[in-house]
Amino acid sequence: MRNTITKSALLATGLLLSVQSLAEPTAEALGYTCAGCHGTNGASTGNAIPSLAGLSEGYLINAMNEYRDDGRLSQIMGRIAKGYTDDQIESMATFFAAQPVHSNINQQFDDAKARKGEKLHKKYCESCHTAGGTDPEDDAGLLSGNAVLFMKYTLADFHDGSRSMPKRMNKMMKKALKKDSNALDNLTNYYGSAK
Ligand code: HEC
Ligand code: HEC
Repeated sequence: MRNTITKSALLATGLLLSVQSLAEPTAEALGYTCAGCHGTNGASTGNAIPSLAGLSEGYLINAMNEYRDDGRLSQIMGRIAKGYTDDQIESMATFFAAQPVHSNINQQFDDAKARKGEKLHKKYCESCHTAGGTDPEDDAGLLSGNAVLFMKYTLADFHDGSRSMPKRMNKMMKKALKKDSNALDNLTNYYGSAK
């Protein structure tokens, strides 16, 4: 009797496990749950929510961990990131890193500001954010062609210290602002001017 129960219990557990492993969502399915806000395959078409397409694995994993641990200021992502395990975050990171970098070319910008911003970027930012900040190899997020309002708020967060930045970036940001007190606005317009 006892044996039979154990056996059927084992069998049931085995079945349950195999059902669970079948139900474990694929990276692509996980990515779908982000698409409502971040666009199909992470290619955002709005100006407020950043693209995930082409973000490096390291960048995305670090960002999700910081959101999950309330280490990065956010309106929305803190709550969302708490719903995912390390493994799920890793497989989403692999999925989004495999998508081509997306450039949002339909954003409004001021031409004169964008030209000033481009010069500032080349002088103070390009060393770490190469090709206007569109090379995933930099492991530093994506700038040119990313959602312009997100860029604006992100630069403001860095500037007032609500998001921490690498020491050398802080130094370059200070230099850029010393050179041009409208640096953040001009840079934002440059990143929004991608064609
Ligand atoms: C309800 C809308 C919404 C959904 C769904 C959503 N996000 Fe976000 N995401 C945002 C917003 C808004 C931001 C900007 C930070 C903030 O305020 O939360 C953001 C920022 C991010 C960033 C930072 C990008 C950068 O360049 O720094 C990452 C990474 C990210 N989300 C990953 C994901 C992943 C992965 C999913 C799916 C599991 C997801 N998001 C689902 C709205 C959303
Ligand atoms: C010494 C290298 C370095 C320099 C110089 C630098 N950055 Fe960064 N930047 C980084 C790194 C690394 C990250 C990623 C930090 C993180 O993951 O939180 C980053 C992140 C960013 C982000 C966030 C991207 C995103 O998707 O959320 C923005 C915006 C940014 N930098 C703008 C600038 C601007 C503007 C300048 C020039 C004034 C600049 N950076 C100079 C290294 C640098």
